[in-house]
Amino acid sequence: SEASPEFAAAGTEARGSRFVRACLRLPVDRTPIWLLRQAGRYMPEYMAVRKHHSLLDICRTPEIAAEVTITAAERLGVDAAIIFADLLLPFTPMGLDFEFLAGEGPVVHSPIRTAEQIHALRTDRVDELSYVGRAIEKVAAHFSGPRADGDQLGIIGFCGAPFTLASYMIEGGSSRNYIETKKLMYSDNAAWSLLMEKLVTVLVGFAQQQVEAGADVIQIFDSWVGALSVTDYRQYCLAPTTELIKRVQALGVPVIYFGVDTASLLPAMRETGADVVGLDWRVPLDVGWKAVGEGCGVQGNLDPIALFAPHDVLEARVREILAAAGGRPGHIFNLGHGIVPGTPVESVIKVVEWVKEYGTQ
Ligand code: CP3
Repeated sequence: SEASPEFAAAGTEARGSRFVRACLRLPVDRTPIWLLRQAGRYMPEYMAVRKHHSLLDICRTPEIAAEVTITAAERLGVDAAIIFADLLLPFTPMGLDFEFLAGEGPVVHSPIRTAEQIHALRTDRVDELSYVGRAIEKVAAHFSGPRADGDQLGIIGFCGAPFTLASYMIEGGSSRNYIETKKLMYSDNAAWSLLMEKLVTVLVGFAQQQVEAGADVIQIFDSWVGALSVTDYRQYCLAPTTELIKRVQALGVPVIYFGVDTASLLPAMRETGADVVGLDWRVPLDVGWKAVGEGCGVQGNLDPIALFAPHDVLEARVREILAAAGGRPGHIFNLGHGIVPGTPVESVIKVVEWVKEYGTQ
């Protein structure tokens, strides 16, 4: 995207957020850092809240969602806060019931298997998700001033990408081989296209609420897109994902587009026009950046399981990533995927400290 001058003119530069500036590939004093799943079960503060509230209660109660978001960002000392929410929240206003079962993850009770079910999905009730916007307003109010180092904390809103959300709708939960998803994708072009179109409509509306509430950047999670060949990604997903990203950028914010196991998909993912592409840890950061090309930022890409390594090994991995980025504008330090339960909090904090120490640009 060539949108940088517009965003600078719109005032993001004036807010002095090194995270937002890095998303636009503008020079920064040091590499910004935040972490996927930075608020989660590895953190005692989150577990204390979780003891009294279900995951969906936390997501749907703006006071609690804001508290969990703020606590994680402040405890870790990161440069951006991602709103506490979940990828599957838009299913409810679309008319698809789901729940989170302990140990199993999300379960959709009547998975989508027919064109009739796709026709029945609603796209006109996105306003029912306004609790996410209200949580973002609280986070934005909390972080409205500059921090001790003069930097403005970035606020990240997010939504799923059409393929990854469709996979949950169709499989009914997490999946290994995406058989039902690919069956529908290959066998009923009209139904697949309609599903993609409906998801884009809902997701643009959801992102708009988040931007209006104060999100500085929108991250689009295409977590499971790595299950696709490049040919299938181009044929079935590139157009709707590009449409989503263009329409979110038109709201006036940069877009980070993230997936896992994407080494071979990176050039095609870049064609969506995303400002930043998220890299998982399987590809060296410089190789991944080369694959997405100049003109695009990258976010990543420490293996989240490296957080279990002895500190000398972990520190070497952090330095390796910063060296691969080479201080070029447009790198946001992150993990290659989310922090897992059981991760030592002190190792997460160490990584943040090392990036602050070694990430000077
Ligand atoms: O700090 C943050 O990262 C913000 C919170 C956040 C959650 N979900 C809360 C959550 C974010 C960004 C998400 C996005 C999300 N949700 C993704 C994409 C991120 C990724 O990892 O690629 C996906 C695939 C989902 C769907 C989802 N939600 C699954 C598959 C699961 C169960 C698996 C698991 O990790 O347990 C969830 C549950 C969930 N969402 C948890 C949290 C903190 C853990 C469960 C809990 O607290 O009870």
